[in-house]
Amino acid sequence: MTHVFDPGPVGEPFTALVGDYPGPDVYPPDSFRVEWGPIFHRGRLDGSARLLVIGQDPAQSEAVVRRILVGAAGHRAQGLMSKLGFDRSYLLINTFLYSVYGQTGGDKHKDDAGIVDYRNGWLTAIFTSNQIEVVLALGSLADDAWQKWRQTADGKGHSPPYAHVTHPTEPESSSGGDPTKLQQAITAMLQNWNQALAALHPLITQPDTPGPLVPYGDSFQPSDLVEIPEFDMPAGIPDWMRSPQAWAQREGATAADKRRNITITVPDGVIS
Ligand code: URA
Repeated sequence: MTHVFDPGPVGEPFTALVGDYPGPDVYPPDSFRVEWGPIFHRGRLDGSARLLVIGQDPAQSEAVVRRILVGAAGHRAQGLMSKLGFDRSYLLINTFLYSVYGQTGGDKHKDDAGIVDYRNGWLTAIFTSNQIEVVLALGSLADDAWQKWRQTADGKGHSPPYAHVTHPTEPESSSGGDPTKLQQAITAMLQNWNQALAALHPLITQPDTPGPLVPYGDSFQPSDLVEIPEFDMPAGIPDWMRSPQAWAQREGATAADKRRNITITVPDGVIS
């Protein structure tokens, strides 16, 4: 069996961008987990992207596989992209290169010039080298990132169909472990996503998989969580790291320990 993989940012303008990424002088270590390194993207960097998704910041699974939106949020986002008709011609970037540390780190630094300018460099590169048909922002910080780029000289000329939707793990963040609140928040999020789908789906002229829009119900069905494709991952990533199973956790007795440790557990059923 021949495996497919994503070679990463191997061509300009992206090679120069990843070669010149901002470090702790721009991303303060009290607000970002800079020790786990920057994580740049997922999806096509070869000029074939037509859907751009802007996420927020990488979590623990992303720190392991070095691609964004591959964990719980990623599987929900992959399902949303698939309902829009995209299963390959997409590109995802985050608002922040590094994982946000603490409740307020993202809001506190959303206007920092070094962070904004570097991300604007990516957005300009993406629009220069792709025919982007539609843009989705996951959460308010991603929306802010999009609006900031649209105000630049490069961004002003671009107004593709756009939706700002609820971030895929907002229900978990907002419900504080209460299962009833979690279910209500998921239902509210899926209604929000359905509104975005209804607005954007008719405007997409070149989907990868044409077909009628199938909206979400009140809760996620198993088919709504779509596996991350092998062609999005660096070479040699095991299949279970692309599955919706939770295989990476930040663990430790103290906040400092938790910051230093990611525990990877091979899911049940993988080892025979
Ligand atoms: N992982 C990401 O890479 N981005 C998000 O917004 C959430 C999880």
